[in-house]
Amino acid sequence: MILIGQRLAIKPMEMADIPAVRSIELAVFPTPWPSNAYQRELSGNRSAHYSCLWKDSEIVGYSGLWSVGEEAHVTTIGVRSSEQGQGLGKVMFAHLVNLAYELQANFISLEVRPTNETAIHLYESFGFKVLGRRRGYYTDNGEDAMVMWSDLIHAPRFKARFLQIVKDMEVEGLGEPPDPRWPRS
Ligand SMILES: CC(C)(COP(=O)(O)OP(=O)(O)OC[C@H]1O[C@@H](n2cnc3c(N)ncnc32)[C@H](O)[C@@H]1OP(=O)(O)O)[C@@H](O)C(=O)NCCC(=O)NCCS
Repeated sequence: MILIGQRLAIKPMEMADIPAVRSIELAVFPTPWPSNAYQRELSGNRSAHYSCLWKDSEIVGYSGLWSVGEEAHVTTIGVRSSEQGQGLGKVMFAHLVNLAYELQANFISLEVRPTNETAIHLYESFGFKVLGRRRGYYTDNGEDAMVMWSDLIHAPRFKARFLQIVKDMEVEGLGEPPDPRWPRS
């Protein structure tokens, strides 16, 4: 992971961060969330965990996750267009997996467009698999969603792969990696 020379920090998303998040979102998502969605998520959804990735003094990425029983569901992940392809998406996704461990989840799920090769590649690199399809899920073009799931995140193989991915990441606020011992997390 080549992040040398970059000062990266992940922090919980705050109301004041929403304009920067929205400006990334408008540029990278075909159908951005409604303008008040982040306000609602931050103020009214106690299962929601949103974070921003800061590079020096700018927000360059963000992510969200809902904690629903034993499932951690990824609601969003985005990296500013000009910063994509440098490993920052991988950092944000690793942060989400750390959060899932911290929240005592057993599995992580998400939806992705079948045409989103970069995102699919990213999730597969963490060991996620396509386990379902939601017909016509995306209302802008009627595209199906692929539903991807992790294995049991405490399973030795999933955890070992994850620890290998994060071992060289030096990012403040990335989260505490899980205990490598089975079955403890
Ligand atoms: C998906 C997204 C978050 C990934 O972030 P990123 O910073 O560009 O990705 P990274 O640089 O961390 O790369 C992650 C992996 O994807 C690979 N990748 C990067 N660009 C790629 C491309 N154009 N095609 C295929 N794979 C690609 C990288 O090589 C890396 O894999 P590797 O570790 O095996 O080399 C980012 O592209 C984005 O914001 N996209 C728009 C929003 C979006 O689609 N979000 C996901 C919704 S489900």
